[in-house]
Amino acid sequence: MARNDAQEAGSQVSGGVDPGELSLEEAATEAARLRPEIERHNRLYHIESSPEISDSAYDALFRRLQALEAAHPSLATPDSPTQRVGADPLESLPSVAHAALMLSLDSAREEAEVRRFDERLRKALGDEEIRYILEPKLDGASLELVYLNGVLERAVTRGNGSVGEGVTENVRTIPTVPLRLREEERPAPAFLSVRGEAMMYLSDFETLNQRRIEAGQPPYQNPRNATSGALRQLDSRITASRPLTVLAYDVMVVEGVTFETDSEGVAALREWGLQTPERVTVADSVDEIVAYHRAFGAVRDSLDYEIDGVVVKLDAVAPRAVLGSTSHHPRWAIAFKFEPRKEVTRIDRIFVSVGRTGVLTPVALLRPVEVGGVTVSRASLHNREELERKDVREGDMVRVQRAGDVIPQVVERIDEEGRTRSEAFAMPTACPSCGTEPVEKGPFTVCPNHFGCRAQLKGRITHFGARGALDIEGLGEETASLLVDEGLVKELADLFDLKEEDLVPLEGFAEVSARNLVEGIRRRREVELARFLVGLGIPEVGVAVARDLAMHFRGIEALRGASAEALEEIHGVGDKMSAAIRGFLGTPDVREAVDRLLAKGFRFSVPVAPVVGDEGGWGGKTVVLTGALESFSRGELKRVLEGLGARVTGSVSGRTDFLIAGENPGSKFDKARRLGVEVLNEEQLVERLEERPR
Ligand code: IVH
Repeated sequence: MARNDAQEAGSQVSGGVDPGELSLEEAATEAARLRPEIERHNRLYHIESSPEISDSAYDALFRRLQALEAAHPSLATPDSPTQRVGADPLESLPSVAHAALMLSLDSAREEAEVRRFDERLRKALGDEEIRYILEPKLDGASLELVYLNGVLERAVTRGNGSVGEGVTENVRTIPTVPLRLREEERPAPAFLSVRGEAMMYLSDFETLNQRRIEAGQPPYQNPRNATSGALRQLDSRITASRPLTVLAYDVMVVEGVTFETDSEGVAALREWGLQTPERVTVADSVDEIVAYHRAFGAVRDSLDYEIDGVVVKLDAVAPRAVLGSTSHHPRWAIAFKFEPRKEVTRIDRIFVSVGRTGVLTPVALLRPVEVGGVTVSRASLHNREELERKDVREGDMVRVQRAGDVIPQVVERIDEEGRTRSEAFAMPTACPSCGTEPVEKGPFTVCPNHFGCRAQLKGRITHFGARGALDIEGLGEETASLLVDEGLVKELADLFDLKEEDLVPLEGFAEVSARNLVEGIRRRREVELARFLVGLGIPEVGVAVARDLAMHFRGIEALRGASAEALEEIHGVGDKMSAAIRGFLGTPDVREAVDRLLAKGFRFSVPVAPVVGDEGGWGGKTVVLTGALESFSRGELKRVLEGLGARVTGSVSGRTDFLIAGENPGSKFDKARRLGVEVLNEEQLVERLEERPR
């Protein structure tokens, strides 16, 4: 889409008077005139697709404003269009609490589930007439935008629903996000928190990938990955170069206006200059919902953006409170998903991969096939039992899908009459990496040579450097494999002794990349304890448990020496998990390997309160849960509280700050009373949770 070159706007740029020669007042007047003008052209170009001026005329206006602000720095405002080009890079993205919980959606695949949803609503709301608002379910990254008195104040990724990453600078660069709300049709509210989806149009995504391929960079797998990558950049100038857009669909919090229906809210968002999804409509019956779902399904493949279903929400706002939410989703909305995309292809070969824990996984190598925009060339066949159940062999024709539209799966074998099939695939009798005889553990086949098997070491290294663990850039599967094969790394501790000159001669390395990797690894000796624990690959310990362990023990030695009782004091850690943790850390080989790793000089940090602003007062507080809660599951509440900086433990002691007591609380309640610990019932809890930072 090009701006109309015939029309110029030179007349609007003050005939080239040097901005430095203008008085502050004159410059301010000119800037105040230019900003809405530039935003208007921005909107005409990006949202309404009907530009009125040429690109060069637009650039002239833009550069003039930049010059005015450069000459008079006090004039620069956060809502100035010049702020869209990106700012200096950040060290890390801050954690920011949402103005309201960003819940997920319950989902349905069958019409019958939608009927049940509708019946449940009708029953709960009695005789009220029910109307639904229907929208496409956009497949991007969920985002909160907060406007204070009409000015974009912050943008936050969904994160855990309670706390996300602050990506304000990045979002400022997205042309379809107004930095200031339009007020022509409706005044801006004092406070507005909006939820929307950041995404990339497919055509823009293709262009971006084309550009990357030409620059020798790897293309992105799909628009969703490209979107979250762009959104989470530390350098907003990079985000500015990516074709992002945001469609807003939900008013989360608004002050000063009340919307009786969601439709009114969406209309207001549009009037304020936000872009909203297309084909939003209302329906009074399940039949209409089904028709909408079918119609969208039929055009799904011809849209310029990815959707994975339609969203059905109760349109009236007041009854939503009556229905309430579970800890995961509101009871007044449902996502009616499309069938996952499936394609047919052939299995060329089955091979066995050895993971970091020694599990031997059969993997199907497929003739590459495109499934919903992603080329799939391999799919896990999981384990011996799954392989037998599906009865797939080399050469077979199979149907594949992306589970949750992401991970490729072999759904079933397609019978081909008359074709002679190959022999059934048998799990190997020797580990393909080290030759050790595998042992069977339930459906799994495991190489028991944990410390001598190269494949397991490669897996451990990759895991250690992965995103949720030490997050070491450049230490992926390929590099890990190279380091092991070259004999440079025999255990994790060796990573910290790598030298630039060891790496330079290796394939794929040059001086800069070698130095970056060596330094990148060393730098991560200063790391959050939880990440380090994830990196160790303790059985049963994922990101959430690692965070709990770190928060509770606050140091590695305290954890290594912890008794089963001490471990089980943590909410959610039972005897099975404590045994797994103690068993692993107590294994002599592991003990020694961890000692050698720690000798490399780590400095661990443990966040006290990861939250910016703490008006709810949860930061650093120790909380215990008891009894049944209406609107939360325990797990979810725990996550919410931790997101706000609290520590959730399993038993009441003198150090407990709050006991949250649901229905039928047990002995913890009595103990809390005895110890004088403050007890909150559910209502008080919700009240406190709503005292969120603004
Ligand atoms: S409404 C509390 N509307 O789907 C309800 N969500 O599984 C708030 N999504 O992460 C969500 N399109 O980001 C809503 N039109 C739409 C949506 C939508 C996409 C995403 C949302 C969420 C996920 C839910």
